[in-house]
Amino acid sequence: MAGGPREGRSLSLVRPKEISETVLASFQSCEDDRLRELIQALARHLHAFVMEARITEHEWEQAIRVLTETGQITDERRQEFVLWSDAMGVSMLVDALAHPKPAGATESTVRGPFWVPDSPRREYGESIIEQDSGTPTWFYGRVLDTAGQPIAGAELDVWQNGEDRLYAVQDPEAPEEHLRGRFLTRDDGSYGFLGVRPTPYPIPDDGPVGRMLRATGRHPWRPAHIHMIVSASGYEPLTTHVFDARSAYLDSDAVFAVKRSLLRDFVPRSPEDPDRPAAVSGEWYSVENDLVLVAAGGADRPRI
Ligand code: DHB
Ligand code: FE
Repeated sequence: MAGGPREGRSLSLVRPKEISETVLASFQSCEDDRLRELIQALARHLHAFVMEARITEHEWEQAIRVLTETGQITDERRQEFVLWSDAMGVSMLVDALAHPKPAGATESTVRGPFWVPDSPRREYGESIIEQDSGTPTWFYGRVLDTAGQPIAGAELDVWQNGEDRLYAVQDPEAPEEHLRGRFLTRDDGSYGFLGVRPTPYPIPDDGPVGRMLRATGRHPWRPAHIHMIVSASGYEPLTTHVFDARSAYLDSDAVFAVKRSLLRDFVPRSPEDPDRPAAVSGEWYSVENDLVLVAAGGADRPRI
């Protein structure tokens, strides 16, 4: 009928099923195939969630409040939406889809909120410690391809926390370039640098995500780890961690980012050890960690 509703949709949507189907159909004319797929799947799952849990008006209001607070607490230094994604395990799901690893390749894990671009370039063997932050630790190993061949000139971007739990970006008192740096591998693929033994760390829990964790009986802690992003031309970049194999919380990481293959021993070393790095005077640790990259475009990549 002329002047009637263009989509010919029913003017009294009463039954839930009718409402859901009408909303899905409203996106049918979207010309962008991927956008249509995404928005329809989102609507379908949201509607199914509301129906399954039989969401009340009060719960709906609470949900709106939580989302509003999530926006309000977010700024350049604090990203509460990413924290939701991490704490709900969504970041690890997206990572698993993006980086299915062939056997032998180093597994990836979350980047987390504390990576800072343009870390200082440092030479092989240099220290990233710019103020006292715990027991010095020599991190070393090689960057290899899946055939075991060394990759020369690969870049390792590393960052970590120290015994006060804080990353330098979180601590206005710490030197800006403290506990982070970028290293290049040598001709034999080797890297080595001096850091510290990291400490377990609570994800920021003074916002809505923290309230969710407390209300559901979860804790905010992550096991001790150091971050690495490894990149080399011709290879897929790798974002990963080295976890301290003896850390607390390995089996209850607040962001679900632990993979068994990323656990390493911090080997205690003595001041008399002939391999002691020059900058070390007392006790120290060493951690060996080879990193295996997948060739770009990866024909050998498994589908999951
Ligand atoms: C998160 C990750 C980290 O590595 C960290 O130190 C703190 C929080 C996160 O994924 O939210
Ligand atoms: Fe971290």
